[in-house]
This record gives sequence, structure tokens and C-alpha cells, in this order.
Amino acid sequence: MGTLLQYLAMVSAMVLTVQGQPSLIDYMERRLSAFEDRIAVWYDQTQRYSSEYREFKNQILSLVDSLDKEREEQRRILDFANSRIERIEREMDYLETKNPAPACVEIDDKFIDQSAGKAEQRKKPKFFDCTEMISSIKAMKIVKKLETTSGLWTRDLMSASGKVYVFDGIANDTVYEFARLRDLTDFSGFMKARKIKLPYPWAGTGHLVYKGFLYYIRNEPEFQLIKFDLKNRTVIDSTMFPAEQQIPVYGLSPFNYIDLAADEHDLWAIYATLENEKHICLARLDPKTLDIEQMWDTPCPIENAENAFVICGTLYVVYNSQLRGRSRIQCVYDVNGIVTNDVAPLVYFPKRYGMHSSLKYSPRENYLYAWDDGNQIIYRLAMKSKSEL
Ligand SMILES: *[C@@H]1O[C@H](CO)[C@@H](O)[C@H](O)[C@H]1NC(C)=O
Ligand SMILES: *[C@@H]1O[C@H](CO)[C@@H](O)[C@H](O)[C@H]1NC(C)=O
Repeated sequence: MGTLLQYLAMVSAMVLTVQGQPSLIDYMERRLSAFEDRIAVWYDQTQRYSSEYREFKNQILSLVDSLDKEREEQRRILDFANSRIERIEREMDYLETKNPAPACVEIDDKFIDQSAGKAEQRKKPKFFDCTEMISSIKAMKIVKKLETTSGLWTRDLMSASGKVYVFDGIANDTVYEFARLRDLTDFSGFMKARKIKLPYPWAGTGHLVYKGFLYYIRNEPEFQLIKFDLKNRTVIDSTMFPAEQQIPVYGLSPFNYIDLAADEHDLWAIYATLENEKHICLARLDPKTLDIEQMWDTPCPIENAENAFVICGTLYVVYNSQLRGRSRIQCVYDVNGIVTNDVAPLVYFPKRYGMHSSLKYSPRENYLYAWDDGNQIIYRLAMKSKSEL
């Protein structure tokens, strides 16, 4: 099923290159209508459908080469086509649940068990020469479903403790700590959790657990970063975030003004201000003092962004549509200038629920801890070396 949305992305790309080709539009219109009709009889035709679809995609692929230049009317028609494709995809997802087809995505049960409590046994090369970038999402595992639509769950991203932290919602003063993943995933709810009541409430889902400290965001009376020692439960440091006139950093998740991220070397803050209201800003933080060491204006738009994370100094921004299609990494910004949008792979997330309200990258494990419409998910990333670019 992943291929349909890849095709959709291709069509979107085509929008920018269409030049007066009404026959193509007509052709696509006809084909789309045909697909919609066939949804009704899809139960019996899965096999035939997929080969025809592949053929159709190949035809489109070859047509794309012959097109150039933009036109507003065609953009409108193609936008409409996009939304129809998304609807078709939803229906197909529904049918798929009724009539399971072989999974396109490897869903690996073992990897999660490995990670549960045994994370410290995983060996990873040292981080000194940080040359990795994403190549794809190799596997996903839904570990839990909680009631709350938006929230954050994470491990300590840089320690082997195996503890799991849950921020249930988008504002509160309590954090739940589970000694191990299994205590969250069995059916005891929050019974086995240790409640950590913070001295000031947290806001949004941008917080970070890193080397035994919780770095969290407070937004009243103003934006503050707070560094909290999880062992003796005291506030170690707090600082005013130095940006002025902050605005929500992701167009699709208005509760996040600052999103903290860890990569192999550094701590980062992803944020946005009125001064640069269309694009996401990135700052590198000193983990000791919480001071900002350096800031960048990235070219990544805020509009339709749902979340982001940093790997090896490269910001990856995840986008979605208002219609909640499939999330994809559609803009990257490498502070070292090696990974560019031209060479970064367009990575799609394998399944669609609603929207990722948090995505935390764990450099130790190459996992993303994600919260998507109440689902607590682990994505395992496949990496490749920047030197292959
Ligand atoms: C935190 O969440 C709990 C449970 O949902 C709720 O009862 C409580 O009022 C919340 N506290 C704050 C400060 O928002
Ligand atoms: C808690 O631990 C930190 C070191 O991480 C130390 O600086 C601080 O004084 C401790 N606070 C208390 C109340 O023990």
C-alpha cells in the first residue's frame, strides 16, 4: 500500500512541472474514477488490481519525464486528485483490515522484546564520526494504545536504563515513569508507574529525557526550559528561551512552540518565531547551561509540518496533510550542509492513524518513539552513511 502514496507524492511533484497537458489530466481523471468504482468489488480483485496499479504507475512515471512548468488550474485539479487518492487509500486500508494482505512493512516482534529492558546489550559503533542519515523505516511496532490523542512517550535517549516515561496529554504537572517497557504494555494501565510530580507544569510534547535528566518546557508565564534531575527529583537549572514572539513550530500540532531533540552529539531546540513565521528554526543547546550555542533559519516550512527530529546534525521534518494522509519526511536541513533535500530519500511512515504528536529519536537504538493518535509506536530506522551521497 505504501506505493500508492509514493505515487501520490510523485503526482504532487508533477504539479510543479505540468505544462498544458489536458489529455493527461483527463486520462488521470478517468483512471481515478475507475479505481473508485472498483473499490466496491475489491475483495475479489486484490491481485489483479495491484498489477494494474503498478502498470498505471509506470505509465505515469514515464509521462512525468515529458512534463515541465507550473499552471494554477492543473494544480487545483491535481490537488483534487490527491484528495481522491487519499480517500481511496483510506478505503483500501479499511478493506485491508477486513481482508488482510501480506504486509508491505516488516513488523518485527523480536526487535521490541530485545529493546525491552535489554537495550544496554545493544552494541552500536561510537558516535565520534557521525555520518549517518535515514534511509528508510525498517519496522514498526505499536506497543500500546492509550486514550489520549496527543502526548509523548520516550526512553532516556542516551542511557541504558530501559525506563519509559509517559507525558499523557499536552499539559500537566505529572510524568509517569515505568521501570521497564513491559510495565507499560501489560494491561495494568498506569498502576505500575511511578508518578513524578514536577514543580512547574509542562506544556506541549517537546520534552526530552537525556542522561538521567528531564529537559522540559514550561510556557506560563513565559517559555522556559527546565532541567530536572530524575534521580533526586530536583530542578537543576532553568532558563528563559531567548527567542521572541514565538509561534507554534508545527502547523499541524499547535501545542508545540519548542520541541527538544537529541542526536548523537548534541541537544537541539526546534522552534519558530513571528519574525520568520513561515519556516522552522533550529538551535543547538549546551546541555549543562541550556544556553543556545548557535541558531539556524531552516528552509523547512511550518505549514503542514507535524513533527521533527535531529540525526547527526540533520533536521528531518515530518509532514502530513489536513486530511491526515500518510506522514512523510519531506524536508531536511543539515547544519553541515551535506544532506540536502535533493539527495535525502522521501521517507514514508508505514501506517496512518492520525498525526504524530511526538517523535523522539534515540541515537543509541536508531528508534523513533512516536505517539500517533493515542498509539505508542516504535519505529526502527534503517540508516546509511552520508558518504554514500
Ligand atoms: C493532570 O492530569 C490528571 C489526569 O488526567 C488530571 O486529573 C489533572 O487535573 C491534571 N493536572 C494538571 C495540573 O493539569
Ligand atoms: C541532586 O543531584 C544534583 C546532581 O545531579 C545535585 O547538583 C543536587 O544538589 C542534588 N539535589 C539534592 C536536593 O540532593
